[in-house]
Parts: sequence; structure tokens; C-alpha cells
Amino acid sequence: MKVLSVASEVFPLVKTGGLADVVGALPAALKPLGVNMRVLVPGYPAVMTALASGKTLHRLDDVFGGPARIVLGDVAGMELMALDAPHLYDRPGNPYVGPDGKDWPDNAFRFAALSAAAADIGRGALKTWIPDVLHLHDWQAALAAVDVRHRGGPRTVVTVHNIAFQGQFPASVFPRLGLPAAAYSIEGLEYYGNVGFLKGGLASADMITTVSPTYAREICTPEFGMGLDGLLRARRHNTIGIVNGIDTGVWNPGTDKALPATYAATTIARRKDNKRELEKHFGLEGGDGILHGVVSRLTWQKGLDILAGLLDWLVASGARLAVVGTGEPGIEGAFAAAAQRHKGRIAIAARYDESLSHLIQGGADTMLVPSRFEPCGLTQLYGLRYGCVPVVARTGGLADTVIDANEAALAAGVATGFQFSPVDEPSLQNALQRAAHLFGAAPAEWKRLQGNGMAADVSWDRSAAHYAALYKTMKG
Ligand code: ADP
Ligand code: GLC
Repeated sequence: MKVLSVASEVFPLVKTGGLADVVGALPAALKPLGVNMRVLVPGYPAVMTALASGKTLHRLDDVFGGPARIVLGDVAGMELMALDAPHLYDRPGNPYVGPDGKDWPDNAFRFAALSAAAADIGRGALKTWIPDVLHLHDWQAALAAVDVRHRGGPRTVVTVHNIAFQGQFPASVFPRLGLPAAAYSIEGLEYYGNVGFLKGGLASADMITTVSPTYAREICTPEFGMGLDGLLRARRHNTIGIVNGIDTGVWNPGTDKALPATYAATTIARRKDNKRELEKHFGLEGGDGILHGVVSRLTWQKGLDILAGLLDWLVASGARLAVVGTGEPGIEGAFAAAAQRHKGRIAIAARYDESLSHLIQGGADTMLVPSRFEPCGLTQLYGLRYGCVPVVARTGGLADTVIDANEAALAAGVATGFQFSPVDEPSLQNALQRAAHLFGAAPAEWKRLQGNGMAADVSWDRSAAHYAALYKTMKG
């Protein structure tokens, strides 16, 4: 079984969020199941550096205004292919925006090029490696499903990692996408008079997956579907939710190089050294009181404006908070201002810092994830694995992966964290109170919570098997 996984990010080369982690982890998780997965990403500078000694498999004369080639190399244990098209991808900034923080004006064509390359590979462009299935992640790759529907190719599956990002462009881009005129229809790319890459992909793909069963249900409702719920309801028999796993090699508290003290469930007392290091790093007062952690994009989706509204109360209650994250200026500013008001109690590292994210997981007492919606969420899974007890909104993948420490679950000895609903200030406050109470008054219970989390299966094993089974039924 050969599968081409197509995406705009891949860990460890290019990452703005969980998509990169998932795309980077899937090939190794699928290998033992007999799936040979190659990954295709745009040839951004970091990717081309990693593929410096890669092999050119295919050349194209004109891909949206310049020459391009497909390069293959072995990177971080995966068979990585890049669409090397310097006129589209050899730019500073992140995959989507320039250094000024604005979307690249030609994003429609940058990702149409990625999708076109995927569809071509699907139709045999590489000759020696022809995929049985194209696995297309998010809007940046979704157009390949439209292409294949009109021009032929292998089976396609589109995975929705976040329906808030849909790749919508004015209808005027359509004639330049190089697709047959029939693709611009209500059953295809047309979306309220615009072009919708994700919409077209969802309408055209053989199968749709999303990254948790709860989110698969939620996106069929107007509240979470962001305009695509009607289409998703119509396709619900071809839609499944498969919860993400994590790379348990990269995220292993027993070997993690970012931690001063590595540990296992049986040696969890050693986490204290990491907490001390975390305090030092963030300039927080030392102490055994509860220290909350956040590792996140600071956006409305993540509900961190709600947490920002509770910071004065949080400090008055005796808690401390360490945040690593960047995002919306209003939310970032609220945390920065609180850090000024409460020196030694609240601190924020307003940057992207992979190793600091590990230190928070390995040293903080909780991982706060108060998301308004969350397709899967990975930071709560890292939290479980690291004994950093997740406090999460009851939505999407958060609802599916954390067992709330209510009375019954505590009595049964199965709880792994705290859930709250609705996603608002009073109920987050209540969850924080419950966590602080258990932490302070029942250390043995708290330790049990940590142990349960660390014992939970957050690996890819089960979910990779679901994907492998899906590919198999698609191939027929
Ligand atoms: P999303 O993809 O919606 O941002 P996820 O929880 O699925 O949410 O994945 C977020 C990923 O990005 C995790 O690997 C998390 O550790 C990482 N991350 C987010 N913000 C930062 C940051 N400021 N520094 C380091 N890692 C971060
Ligand atoms: C998206 C979602 C997040 C999910 C990640 C990987 O970024 O926001 O919930 O974990 O994709 O699937």
C-alpha cells in the first residue's frame, strides 16, 4: 500500500501547529502496518536545506510562473518529497505569511501548485512510485481531490485539521488554477460566489476524516461547521473521526533532552527539579504551590482571552502561571500586562520555542487548554504523557482524550484531568478551583491523576491502524 501524504507543514522542518506534528509522525506509525507513506510539502527554505542532497525525481517547466522539480530525500526517518519551486516558496516568513504578518498575495497559486503536483504524482508522474491513495491535509492540499475527480487518479481522502481555515479566494482566481471549467460548480469549488479550496476538496474526496470523533460530529452542526456543515451532513456516511496520536519518541519524559530531570511514573517526584528550572527560566517565585502551564497559539479558538480575564483572581488564589505562546496582539498584550502587574506570579514567553514547550510539559502542574473549539489538540496529549494534568474545555478532541476528575471517576480511579463546559469564565474558574483544591488537599489523588495520564495510550498505535484500515477499504 503506497500513500502520498500532502501538507503545508511537517515536523521537524516547518511547524506552526499540530498539523506538522501529525504529518511528521504518521509515516513511521504506518510503516509497521505495511503502509509506505511518502510526504509531499512545498520546498520552503528549511525543507530545501534538509533535502540538499536529495534526488530530483521529476522536472516541470512551468508551475504557476516558473520551473519546478520534485525532490526526494530521507529526512528524520521519513521519505520526504518537496515541490521545489523557488518562485513560490523560497521566501522568508512562515508557510502562509510574509515577515509583515500578511498572507502572501499568491497563496491560492502556491497551494494550487502543491495540489497539482500531488494529483500528477497520483496519476503516475514519478513512474517508479505511484500512490494508491492521496491523503490530503487541510485546504492547502484539498484541491488535489478536485483535480483527481475531473482528470482521474487514485482514491483521495481529505483530513480536516481545522475547519476555520478554508482557503477562500475570489472567483477571479479560478481561470488561473488550471482546472477544467466544470470544477467551478456548486458541487465543486464554488462557494458563495468565491472559490473554496477546502469546500471543493470535501465535496470531491472519496473519504473525509477529521482528527477526533467528537469534532466529526460537531462540524455537522451550524455552531461548529463554519458554513460547511450542510455539505458535511450530506457526506456524513463518508466521514470518520480518528483521534490523533503523538510521537512518543519525541515526547518521552524518560529521555527528553529539554528536561533537567527525566522521569517515569514511578520516579515522578523528580519532576520537582523541572518545576524549579521552569520557575527560574520564567523568573517566577519558587514554591510548591500549583503552577499552571500554557503552550499555545494565543487566539480566540484557544479561548485564552477567557483565561486572561481570570488572571488577577488566579494570582489572588495563590496560583502561578507560565505561558509560552504568540498570537493575537490583544490576547498576548493581556498576558504581558498581567505579567507586569504580577511579577513572579505570571510570566509569558511570547515566542515560538519548542524546547521551552517541553520544559513546561515536564515541569508545570497543569496544562490549560480552554479552547472554544478544538479538532483534536495535542498539548493535552503531551500533558497526559508528561504527568502535566490537563485542564480542558469539553469540546472536540479534548472531550475525547481527557477523563474528568468528577466524583465518580475519582472513586473509580480512572480520572486523568479536568473538563469544563460551557466554555466561559465562570466554568473555567470552577475547573481551576477544582484542580487547585485536589492539588493542595489530596496529593495522593493528584499523583493518581498523573499516573493515569501517563499510563493512557496516546501513541499512534490505535489511530494508525484506523488509517491503515481506511486506506485498505478505499483501495478496494
Ligand atoms: P493547533 O494545531 O491548533 O495550534 P495543537 O494542540 O494540535 O493545536 O498543536 C499545537 C502544537 O504547537 C503543539 O505541538 C504545541 O506544543 C506547539 N506550540 C504551540 N505554540 C507553541 C509555542 N509558542 N512554542 C512551542 N510550541 C508551540
Ligand atoms: C489543528 C487543530 C488541532 C489539531 C491539529 C492536528 O491545528 O487546531 O486541534 O490537534 O490540527 O490535527
